[in-house]
Amino acid sequence: MSEDMDADADAEALEPIPADEELETVAELAKRRGFFFPASRAYGGVAGFYTYGPEGAALKRNVEDAWRDLFVTQEGHMEISAPDVMPEPVFEASGHLDGFDDMIIECPECGTNHRADHLVEDATRIEEAESLPIPEVEALIAEYDLDCTTCGASLTDVPVEEFNLMFETNIGPGSSQPGYLRPETAQGIFVEFPQLKQYARNQLPFGVAQVGTAWRNEISPRRALVRVREFTQAELEHFVDPDEDEPPLHRVADVELTLYPADEQEADDGGEASEASRTSSDSSDGKYVTCTVQEAVDENIVASDWVAYYLGLARDWYERVGVDMDRFRYRQHLSGELAHYAADCWDAEAELGGDWVEITGFAYRSDYDLSKHGAHSDEEFTLFKQYDEPKTVERATVDPDMSVLGPEFGGDAGAVQEALNDLVERDPDAFDGEVVEVEADGESYEVDVEHTNFAREEVTESGEHITPHVVEPSFGIGRIVYTVLTHAYDRDLVDGEERAFLDLPPEVAPTTVGVFPLMDKDGLGERAREVEADLRQAGFAVAYDDSGNIGRRYRRQDEVGTPYCVTVDYESLEDDTVTVRERDSTEQARVDIEELPVTLTALRTGSTDIADL
Ligand code: GLY
Repeated sequence: MSEDMDADADAEALEPIPADEELETVAELAKRRGFFFPASRAYGGVAGFYTYGPEGAALKRNVEDAWRDLFVTQEGHMEISAPDVMPEPVFEASGHLDGFDDMIIECPECGTNHRADHLVEDATRIEEAESLPIPEVEALIAEYDLDCTTCGASLTDVPVEEFNLMFETNIGPGSSQPGYLRPETAQGIFVEFPQLKQYARNQLPFGVAQVGTAWRNEISPRRALVRVREFTQAELEHFVDPDEDEPPLHRVADVELTLYPADEQEADDGGEASEASRTSSDSSDGKYVTCTVQEAVDENIVASDWVAYYLGLARDWYERVGVDMDRFRYRQHLSGELAHYAADCWDAEAELGGDWVEITGFAYRSDYDLSKHGAHSDEEFTLFKQYDEPKTVERATVDPDMSVLGPEFGGDAGAVQEALNDLVERDPDAFDGEVVEVEADGESYEVDVEHTNFAREEVTESGEHITPHVVEPSFGIGRIVYTVLTHAYDRDLVDGEERAFLDLPPEVAPTTVGVFPLMDKDGLGERAREVEADLRQAGFAVAYDDSGNIGRRYRRQDEVGTPYCVTVDYESLEDDTVTVRERDSTEQARVDIEELPVTLTALRTGSTDIADL
């Protein structure tokens, strides 16, 4: 082995980079090496939009593939791809038109728009100020005498308003058909439920996954990939029968969780949240609950077994893709923080540069979405649930006598008839007296029960229409990529020289193997190109590099997280072997060229180790 090639055999760990320098360092690396950078810079750029460069696009794709591997391949859910633009009625039904707002405050002097809750969080150390009502946020702005961060003007007594986050567009020419860029990929799944249930042969439970773009017109995008206006979500909508279906909890029962329940958060800060701890072993107040998934369910820390199941399943997935489990926690939403559709929600959070950042939401959405779409659309958003045995049940019916209702209520008779039909289903006992009262179009009407032809009869039913409940793990892919990149950033000393490297899991690393000729002469380059071609043919992501000394080439690959490098040297020409060098340990082994694909696969999947070669 040449001196050049084993020059970095001894690696010595260095202290982690300080929290306040971490994100700046990662941003510099991300831009310089092509992970991500602000988009459209040639035209001045626009906040909240990022382009993933060659390394970042590959890393992102690998994270998405790992997500698909878990939720589609292993868990067996179907995957769809729905449009980004959806018509207005979708969002009237979903509640996004009315309720998908953030708090905005406009500086009266310079006109800068700020997210009011973020101003409060930045100035007061209150976390999750979005859970507070607007008057309280206004009061905090006055109490802390907050100023515009752009021009310094006072914001006391400036009204805080609601700002809808959806991007609006027009479908087709003119403005007769407004549309919106979807603010969550989930709606693309819910609106297709009438079709999707057929692919599931009308059997619950079933899940539908989607990886796609979502859009939010953020008031103030910030923190690189954390708060952006266009981002990738990987969402699973799991449709379940709330009365019968249970998750396979035993599969994750022993997974250890670090939980930060809502009551602990409230007890900890009394409104003043604490500074993020750099590790998840404790919050700075020491109130995390560490327990297994089974204990979280048994002790009712996580109310929904389904949500607990996904917390367990996802925890191992985060570790698999490179999230540092010492910088990770699950935090329950405070009640004021819950989205309009959520009955309960836990966030997976990662610590980045000293702050906790949500990377996934696990929401129990109940029947909210399907009921809303069922009420707004003519399609059926229910599913027929067959009983094991037919059941005999009492059913109440009405058959209003229109020859009486017509003359009595005139043009309103049809609405009264419909109201009677609704009422008998909801509350048959309302017909027990002589007169029944119904509401139609905001008016109240009294009808003699004898004219409704009210009857109770016994019927045999083979099943019933139910509205499934939805459990939703919703992963923010960009934030996970950012987390993985940040947590992977490491430095050490190799033979006394500082080296920066990304200790990315081989599964997600943009490039799996760097191929280098020791020198580009004497046929070494040609042989290295053959090795490169063979590895590409075998499906490896390969980077070929013949520029500079070998040490520098290793550093270039280390810095983008390439786990293995292969060097073709003079010995290779004689015995068809190459040197394989592993990134983190910098250890090296000699491997037959013929064996390279098998050996690299074994290394990549962890079934062998460089030291065993
Ligand atoms: N689908 C959940 C979210 O977008 O936050």
